[in-house]
Amino acid sequence: SIVSKQYRTAYHFQPPKNWINADPNGPMYHNGVYHLFYQYNPNSSVWGNIHWAHSVSTDLINWAPLDLAIHPTKPFDINGCWTGSATILPGHQPVILYTGMNRDNQQVQNIAVPGNLSDPFLREWTKPDYNPLMTPSDGIHPDMFRDPTTGWRGADGHWRVALGAEISGNGTALLYKSEDFVRWQRADSPLHSSSASGMWECPDFFPVPIEGREGLDTSVNSKDVRHVLKMSLMEPQSDYYMLGTYDETRDIFVPDNAADDYRMWLRYDYGKFYASKTFFDAKKKRRILWGWLNESDTESDDIAKGWAGIQIIPRKIWLDSRGRQLVQWPIEEVESLRRNEVHLHGFELTTGLHEIKGVKGSQADVEVDFELPSLDRADPFDPTRAMDAPKLCSQEDASVRGGIGPFGLLVLASENLEEHTAIFFRVYREQNTAKVLMCSDQRRQSRSSLRPELDKPVYGVFLDMDLEKERKISLRTLIDHSVIENFGGKGRACITARVYPELFLNTSSHLYLFNNGSSSVMISRFQSWGMAKAHLNIKLKDLVIE
Ligand code: FRU
Repeated sequence: SIVSKQYRTAYHFQPPKNWINADPNGPMYHNGVYHLFYQYNPNSSVWGNIHWAHSVSTDLINWAPLDLAIHPTKPFDINGCWTGSATILPGHQPVILYTGMNRDNQQVQNIAVPGNLSDPFLREWTKPDYNPLMTPSDGIHPDMFRDPTTGWRGADGHWRVALGAEISGNGTALLYKSEDFVRWQRADSPLHSSSASGMWECPDFFPVPIEGREGLDTSVNSKDVRHVLKMSLMEPQSDYYMLGTYDETRDIFVPDNAADDYRMWLRYDYGKFYASKTFFDAKKKRRILWGWLNESDTESDDIAKGWAGIQIIPRKIWLDSRGRQLVQWPIEEVESLRRNEVHLHGFELTTGLHEIKGVKGSQADVEVDFELPSLDRADPFDPTRAMDAPKLCSQEDASVRGGIGPFGLLVLASENLEEHTAIFFRVYREQNTAKVLMCSDQRRQSRSSLRPELDKPVYGVFLDMDLEKERKISLRTLIDHSVIENFGGKGRACITARVYPELFLNTSSHLYLFNNGSSSVMISRFQSWGMAKAHLNIKLKDLVIE
């Protein structure tokens, strides 16, 4: 149908049809090929009958789908093959650990191994009969015991993996240990747990170097690294993470900030984003983050579309130089899709609306630097509102004039602006420091879609940046039909939104810069590109292997 086509992405990964909870499963790089598996319903565009689907790529942008990799066929996974991770064992031997819903509908952990290691695409996966490897016992609830991480090896040479669980109401990353990756034993203490939230889905645990942007293999630990523990909180559906230390003698993760309010934890993305997972890319020595962008339309829309769920553009991630958070940036490969550059230089963004002509507004990559005047005119900040950035974004939306800001982009805008999504910044003054609020408003003054039945939240976050020093706020926005991925402050905060405009079904969509603050802002850089279509479902024989 036209709706199905209009909202399909041109360069964000999705299969030809059906449901994916793109829980990226087992992402890895192996012998020149990137693998992506994902939770897939082969029969319909709503969740159920979960298999592992499999696509391969050599550049993380163009993909070839293969046959389904793991099917629910055995007593230990007959009711579904749920989320899991890949680990590359010594001798370049990839294996997968995944959660099976067994014949009693209990969650158990299984292993799958390549059926033919000499196949460069690892098309066949076999499930040994010694499965399952881990079963819920000793007080573990069989409904809350899933999503094994990639394994890492400690100094003692033993393997470890973490699993998501909820124990006595506490979100928990259970720790299991093994010498041979087959026989596993639960450690006495979990890797970490917290009373600040319930069930942790899809945990992820990995090191990042204190200096530089390189990624590290998952087993690396030394005084030169910090560790990241990420958990997907079912309520509210979002991915949170903590920075801290991995204490190998006690085999526990010690977070820097163990606040007992999950709202104080860090997030990968302050918009729509869930069930993410990283992997170490040995080809380019970087750590790459994948994540699921689920739909914010209705189930009947998904049935009409015949598909639901897409993946983010993979992001390289590293530790910010101040060590307080991670930074994320779309992998450089996506720049190969850039066409038809439009740029502005030294443009003064006065109060008002400025259309950028000549851009393919439904399929674009935009980079802007907003250079600020003196910060004297910034409105005073009310510290009681610090916790609730989204609320601030909705109360002081793009139509509310401020001293500095709101300024930003209007994207996926219809001819007469009946529909558009506003991504904007506002600067506040608190004593001698400035605070930068970043918003993506799908609602209110900016109306991403005229359709009333959609979920149209307002997203917001404060950027952790030193504005006095930098004097510039940067924004990168990837637009792709029904997705808007925003990177504020050079990747220090991300906000991703799903939107379904109705009017550009017939017209093209427009792109604007706007400023609704009383001071003008210098656009010291503006570059935008129309994006070419990626080959998301190419034939395997057309994949170029370097
Ligand atoms: C997260 C999740 C996982 C589970 C899978 C089932 O989206 O609920 O915890 O393994 O999806 O499809």
